[in-house]
Amino acid sequence: MCGIIAYVGDREAQPILLDGLSRLEYRGYDSAGLAVHTAGGLRVQKKAGRIAALSAAVARQPVSSTSGISHTRWATHGEPTDANAHPHLDQSGNIALVHNGVIENFHELKQALTLQGHVFHSATDTEVLAHLIGEHYEKLATLSGVARLSAAVRAALGEVDGTYGIAVIHRDLPNVVIGARRGSPLVVGIGATEKFLSSDAAALAPYTQKVVYLKDFDFVTLQPGQFDLQNLGGRDTDYEIKELDFKPEAAEQGAFAHFMLKEIFEQPETIRNAMRGRVDKDTATAHLGGLNLTGEQLRDLRRIIVLGCGTALYAGMVGKHMIENAALLPVETDFSSEFRYRNTPLENDTLFFVVSQSGETADTLGALREAQRKGHRALGICNNVGSTIARESDGGVYMHAGPEIGVAATKSFISQATVFALLALKLGRLRHLSASAGGEIIEALEKLPAQVEVILQQSDAIKNIAEKYADSRSMLFFGRLGNYPVALEGALKMKEISYLHAEGYPSSELKHGVIALIDKKTPSVVIAPHDSLYDKNMNSLQEIKARCGPVICLTTCGGRDTGHLADEVIKIPQTLELLQPILNVVPLQLLAYHTAAALGRDIDKPRNLAKSVTVE
Ligand code: M6R
Repeated sequence: MCGIIAYVGDREAQPILLDGLSRLEYRGYDSAGLAVHTAGGLRVQKKAGRIAALSAAVARQPVSSTSGISHTRWATHGEPTDANAHPHLDQSGNIALVHNGVIENFHELKQALTLQGHVFHSATDTEVLAHLIGEHYEKLATLSGVARLSAAVRAALGEVDGTYGIAVIHRDLPNVVIGARRGSPLVVGIGATEKFLSSDAAALAPYTQKVVYLKDFDFVTLQPGQFDLQNLGGRDTDYEIKELDFKPEAAEQGAFAHFMLKEIFEQPETIRNAMRGRVDKDTATAHLGGLNLTGEQLRDLRRIIVLGCGTALYAGMVGKHMIENAALLPVETDFSSEFRYRNTPLENDTLFFVVSQSGETADTLGALREAQRKGHRALGICNNVGSTIARESDGGVYMHAGPEIGVAATKSFISQATVFALLALKLGRLRHLSASAGGEIIEALEKLPAQVEVILQQSDAIKNIAEKYADSRSMLFFGRLGNYPVALEGALKMKEISYLHAEGYPSSELKHGVIALIDKKTPSVVIAPHDSLYDKNMNSLQEIKARCGPVICLTTCGGRDTGHLADEVIKIPQTLELLQPILNVVPLQLLAYHTAAALGRDIDKPRNLAKSVTVE
C-alpha cells in the first residue's frame, strides 16, 4: 500500500526518485508525486495516474536537486486526484511529507487545526499530519536546523493514532530527509556519499546492497555522508546493517512481457531455492533450523494453526493437507483478519504459522501479535528478509523466492507450498512416517522443478484455451482435498487480473447449490489428477457436462483416460498425491495470465489492487 522512496546524496535526485518509484509501483499506482530541494525552495510535482504521467511532467520542467522525497499511492482517504497525491505540504508550504499508512484520528486533528486557521487542500489524512508537523515547527522557534524539524516531527507523531511510514523534508534543510515508521515498512539504503529511504529493499538494489530495516518507532535522519537512527523518544537504538540477498536483475522484468509471466517461469528455480540445503537424504527428513524448536517440542505439538491472507492462506490450506497426511497432526487454517478478532478456543501445545510473502500484510501482522499476546509461539513463513513479520515472529522459514513484483502472487504460492511440504516431512519423520516414505517424498520433491518445466512448455496450448473462453462472464474452479485450495487460488488469479467473475469450490459441493450456475456460457475448470478421488471428480465433471457446461479438465499423464469427456484437457506430470497441488497450480496461473492478456488487462497492475496490503 503506497511506496515511498527518498534520496540525499551527490547525484541528481529526480531520476533516482522516478526510477525508485517505478520499482515500487506495484505497491500502489493510482497517483504519484515528488518534492525536491532546489535553490529556489521546494519543487513539488504530483499527478493522478501512473508514474509515467509524473515522469512526463518532470521531464517538461526538470530541476537540479540532490535530495527529495517521492511517493506512489494506493488511495485510502480521498480519490486518486492530483490534489490527493503525495507529497503534502504544511500550512507554510515549507515542509513536505510522504506517508504510507492510515492516520486514524485525522478527523479530530483536522478539526482542531482548522479552528487554528489551517486550510487544507486535499481529502487525505496525510495532509493533516503535514500540517500538524508544521504547527509544532512554528512553536519550536527556540530550536533550529535539523533539531527543530526532528522535534516537530516527533511531537506530531506523538499525537497520531494509526500507522505510518513517512519521509519529511524542509525547504531550509537541503540534503536532510527525516523518516519514521510505525506499522508501515521502511528501509534505509546506505551508500558512502548518499542515503536512501524506501518502502521496499528491492527498489534499492540498483543503488546499494547495504540496508537497515527500520523497526516500529524508529526515527532516522539521513544526510549524504551519515545517518542517525534513534527511536521516537530520541534514544539511540540498535540496528544491523544487512547485505541484500538478491541482485538487481532479480527485480527486472527481462525479456518477459510481464513480471507475472517472468515469475511463473521462475518457478522451477523457486522450488529449488525453497529446498536448497534443507533436505537430508540420509535421514529422510528436512532441516528447518529457523523453527527454533527441538525435535521433542515438535513431537509434542497437538495442533497447528496457519494464518494468512489471499494466496498465502491458500498455500497454508495446501500445507494443512500435507501436514495432516504426512504427520497426522491436526491443522487448522484461518484468515488472518478473522482470527485476530475471533474468540478462538486455543489449547496449549498449539503452534502458529503465519504465512506472508511480503511479511508486511497488516492483517497477518495483527494475527501474529494476537497469537503471541495469547502466549503462543508463532512462526513465520516469509519471503522478505527483514520484514516486520519475519522480525516479530518467534522463528520460521524463509522462502528465498526472490522479489515478487507482479501484484498477482505466483511463485510465492509454490514456494510456500514447498516449505509446507518440507515441514510435513519433518513433522512426519518425528512421528509415524517411515524412512522409506520420507525418502519417497524427497525423491518426488526433487523431481518437481523438471515437472514444472514440462508444464511451462504448454504455455501456448493453455493460451489457446484461454483465448477461447476469455469472453466468458464467469468461470468456476473445482478441486478436492489438497486441490480445493488450488481451485481457490486458480479462481483468485482469474478474478484479480482478468476481472472475470470466478469462484473455487470443492468438487463435491457442486450439487449443493453451485450447479445452478452451470450453463453453456459458464466454463468450469475441474482439477482431476489421477489420485484417490479421480473417479469422484469425474462424476462432478459428468454432472457439469450433463448441464451443457464447458469443462476444462486439468489431469495428470498416465492412468485412465477420460479426458475426452471434457471440452479441453490440460495434461500435466503426476507426482505424489501429497505434492500434486504444487504442480496443479501452474496451469491455472497460465490460464489466468493468458485470459487477462487476451482481454488486454494491465496484468502486473490490476485495477484497485496493491501488492502489499499494509492497512487493515
Ligand atoms: O504479502 P502477503 O503474502 O501477506 O499477501 C497476502 C495477500 O494480500 C496476497 O496473497 C494477495 O491475495 C495476492 N494479490 C494474490 O495474488
